[in-house]
Amino acid sequence: MVAKQINLNILVTGGAGYIGSHAVLALIEAGYQVTVLDNLSKGFADAVLPPARLIQGDLSDQGLLDDIFQQEKFQAVMHFAASSVVPESVQYPLTYYSNNVTNTINLLKVVKKYKVPNFIFSSSASVYGIPDVVPVTETMPLSPISPYGRTKLISEWMIQDLAKAEPWFRYGILRYFNVAGSDPEGRLGQNTPNATHLIKLACQTALGHRSKLQIFGDDYPTTDGTGVRDFIHVTDLANAHLIVLKHLAEGTESNIYNCGYGKGYSVREVVNTVKEISKVDFPVEVTHRRTGDSPEVVADVTKILQHTEWHPKFDSLQVIVEHAFQWEKSRLSNMIDNQR
Ligand SMILES: NC(=O)c1ccc[n+]([C@@H]2O[C@H](COP(=O)([O-])OP(=O)(O)OC[C@H]3O[C@@H](n4cnc5c(N)ncnc54)[C@H](O)[C@@H]3O)[C@@H](O)[C@H]2O)c1
Repeated sequence: MVAKQINLNILVTGGAGYIGSHAVLALIEAGYQVTVLDNLSKGFADAVLPPARLIQGDLSDQGLLDDIFQQEKFQAVMHFAASSVVPESVQYPLTYYSNNVTNTINLLKVVKKYKVPNFIFSSSASVYGIPDVVPVTETMPLSPISPYGRTKLISEWMIQDLAKAEPWFRYGILRYFNVAGSDPEGRLGQNTPNATHLIKLACQTALGHRSKLQIFGDDYPTTDGTGVRDFIHVTDLANAHLIVLKHLAEGTESNIYNCGYGKGYSVREVVNTVKEISKVDFPVEVTHRRTGDSPEVVADVTKILQHTEWHPKFDSLQVIVEHAFQWEKSRLSNMIDNQR
């Protein structure tokens, strides 16, 4: 955890969204001053917990960006805002390039103009495409197969090129694997509308929000035939941001880190864990494989563990599912209360 005395002023884009809101919570708990910029297209104002300040606005609004950067003297930016649904990116590639690439350029322009020295970027395991070898290290070939993955890789390149041109600018690029779970104290969780994340969908099915859960393919060359993924608890991921920021602020070199636990769980194992924890044997339908899904995607996390003092606290599928399920359950009871 980051020491309380650090009091940097941070801009968090997309801080009203799922991962960004957990990072904002970790930042305010550690004593940072936080401004969130979010257009609330997918995020929620009440996910920005006080004393963080929410500015509702869009990264395409360059005048607004200039005003915010002029008013605040930020020492760091954490850039979470993006569109992030892979199939949607295949259908609407230009929307994705515009929101994820053009808007990152807009942000980097003001970062450059106001010389904000530290930048943390939400990248994704999708930059690796379908890995030939697992676990995946940061130096493995980058070959994204979706427009979404390509927008993340292009953004990484832009950030790296800016750092080469401007020696005062340092970055931490975090490549997230499968993010899941929710704040252990139940203050935040995943509200993303139409989320496509397996654990969230399975919890919703257990609670009767969905009639069945689909498994896409059970004929992969894995132990039980279903895909294998590396799930990371959102609170551990949020803390990784603080630790990488602390390193940057102390003058450490720019770096790229995989963020996962280095362990793979099959879709079937995840479904069984949700059934166990919810005590509901919900219907599951096995259907065909989806184009572009890899049999196995697991991170090699040696680098973040060796280079930083990041110590994951929730490295357990049971715990991730418990927290995700509790959050989904509390949302359901709030919805029922509101309908009364
Ligand atoms: N969830 C995952 O498993 C995962 C995995 C890898 C990478 N990522 C990346 O992490 C980041 C956060 O993902 P998330 O799951 O929290 O998504 P999310 O949709 O919950 O959050 C994104 C936030 O950005 C805001 N936003 C989007 N476009 C904006 C714009 N133009 N201007 C201002 N605000 C804007 C949205 O309103 C939302 O609150 C994204 O960059 C995503 O690509 C997520």
